[in-house]
Amino acid sequence: MRNGFTRSVILVFVGLLLCSVGCQGERVQSSLHPEGPAAESVARLWWVMLTVLGLYTLGVFVLATIAVFRRPTQEPKQPTNDREGRRFILIGGAILPTIILVPTLAYTVHTTSSLRMRDTGLTIRVVGHRWWWEVEYPDHRILTANELVIPMGEPVKLELSSADVIHSFWVPQLHGKMDMIPGTTTKFWLQADREGIYRGQCAEYCGLQHAHMAFVVKSLPPDKFVRWLENSASATTVTEDGRGFQLFKKHGCSVCHAIQGTEAKGWSGPDLTLIATRETLAAGTIENTPQNLLQWLVTPQSIKPGVNMPATEASAEELQMIVDFLLKQNGSSTERGDDDE
Ligand code: CUA
Repeated sequence: MRNGFTRSVILVFVGLLLCSVGCQGERVQSSLHPEGPAAESVARLWWVMLTVLGLYTLGVFVLATIAVFRRPTQEPKQPTNDREGRRFILIGGAILPTIILVPTLAYTVHTTSSLRMRDTGLTIRVVGHRWWWEVEYPDHRILTANELVIPMGEPVKLELSSADVIHSFWVPQLHGKMDMIPGTTTKFWLQADREGIYRGQCAEYCGLQHAHMAFVVKSLPPDKFVRWLENSASATTVTEDGRGFQLFKKHGCSVCHAIQGTEAKGWSGPDLTLIATRETLAAGTIENTPQNLLQWLVTPQSIKPGVNMPATEASAEELQMIVDFLLKQNGSSTERGDDDE
């Protein structure tokens, strides 16, 4: 009986161990693989906590196991005059926890203070919507969505808010979480030390498609970043009399979506000025490819059930023209940051 139980416990333990190391290959969105100073502090704190408290817990379990299986060699003494027992409780229940908890508390406070807002040159405003992210560079008149492009190696200031319910901004490889609350602005910052693409995710349950409320942060070397700023700020001219734009308008896309510099000024959906340069569609749900965009236009509900985007009623030829218009309109002036040159 006891053998069977022990075997089950060992099996469960090995199973959990295998599960916990199963994510090792995928470093996407892992706070244990930090790529910036804030995330590094958080990860270091996590490892310290895990080690110290893990050892302590292990010690408690070992003592508890000994207590359960040890056969008493004599009758238990009366608790009232058991000085040894009291000393054990004093040491194990008060002195040891104090020795362990006070330094870990001090280290936690130290880590928290190292995460304080830093002086930055660039400010990005991010507004959470169900279920996408509005992204604005107020000093550069750039509006985009579901993607933040930042210069690597320097802190960037974020002003976070929400248009509807509470969301939470989280890029695990770059920083901890920060709530986005309607009616107020929370200040936050991000820094990526290397060029790369980091996945972010809404971390506060916000409705049906909370899990599909993702985004990417793309960090570029300073010179590439400056070029991106210049290209994006000037990438606002499309030919309004082109067939693509006419169809975009005719089928109602401009009611909800804006394209800077045109009469498309909808604001309830993501700004589409820079859609051709973005990595993903539908807030990180699918990769940004012509086929995926076409499918998104035809059956958005099958990709993201509950999304506000309605199916676009148009002929196959018209849909294709809208896709071409959206994905190629800025193709010559703006490139995706990661694969240029
Ligand atoms: Cu937004 Cu969860």
